[in-house]
Amino acid sequence: MRSMDELSPGVVRARDPGGREAIALQAGDQRVLVALLGAQILSWQGPHGEVLWWGSKVEYAAGKPVRGGIPLVFPWFGDHPTDKQLPAHGFVRNLTWRVAHTAPHEVTLACSDDAKTLVMWPHAFALTLTVALGHTLRIALAIHNPGAALLRCEEALHTYFAVGDIHTAEVRGLEGIACTETAVAPEGAWDTTRPLRFRAETDRVFQGTPDRLELHTPALRRHVRLTTANANSAIVWNPWPAKTARLSGMAADDWQRFCCVETANVRQHALAIAPGQRHTLTLELDCRAN
Ligand code: BG6
Repeated sequence: MRSMDELSPGVVRARDPGGREAIALQAGDQRVLVALLGAQILSWQGPHGEVLWWGSKVEYAAGKPVRGGIPLVFPWFGDHPTDKQLPAHGFVRNLTWRVAHTAPHEVTLACSDDAKTLVMWPHAFALTLTVALGHTLRIALAIHNPGAALLRCEEALHTYFAVGDIHTAEVRGLEGIACTETAVAPEGAWDTTRPLRFRAETDRVFQGTPDRLELHTPALRRHVRLTTANANSAIVWNPWPAKTARLSGMAADDWQRFCCVETANVRQHALAIAPGQRHTLTLELDCRAN
């Protein structure tokens, strides 16, 4: 483990396409780009191409995360429960994180409460995001409660996956799992015993999720296996055309080329972290050719 001034092998300082500070991890023919803004993983390129997706009209504005890659959701998911003026999905995706340490092909970024976060959310917290590149991409989001009271919060790795063609993409592993559909114009009825296919706006929060899901994307001739630990929720999202028109960073037909499969603890699976304790959610992504 090395300090922030001395980076480990396979870890280099880089810039995102907007010229903002980032860290690149390199291992063999794989490359990952992680922005310091929001500790957002922007890209993971490997032997099967770019695994992640970002909007074709994203703007790299100061302090604003782009739509795509893996934004982090914390400490609340969706709108704030009582104050709609506060940012959706919390605020850590808008904060500039620091490099805490590196190891070969691995970086840990950190952020914690400050005067600005305490105005939005009056709690002390310390987060780290560790990203490690090998044959797979391993991600760990750790939340530490340094305060004296219980820390109640929600979290998500809001992963945008490239799918090539949404009409043929399929999520396996959620069959029979309880879910709440929150889309404005959802599919009328669907067979919950079958793998999830996209037929309309989809915004489903699954609870009590298994630790292994698969996203099959025949248009890209590959599938991604998601293996998680300490994640009890998953959100599967595609905005379809009507909602796409209301979203930033996206062209009118962008909805056809991505879906989000989010690794999370939300709503009835929100976290309650005791004083001095830490919660760590992990996600391992393994992309394989079909
Ligand atoms: C998903 C939500 O997690 O994020 C959707 O379930 C939401 O309802 C989407 O539209 C995008 O959110 P945002 O804030 O990044 O536009």
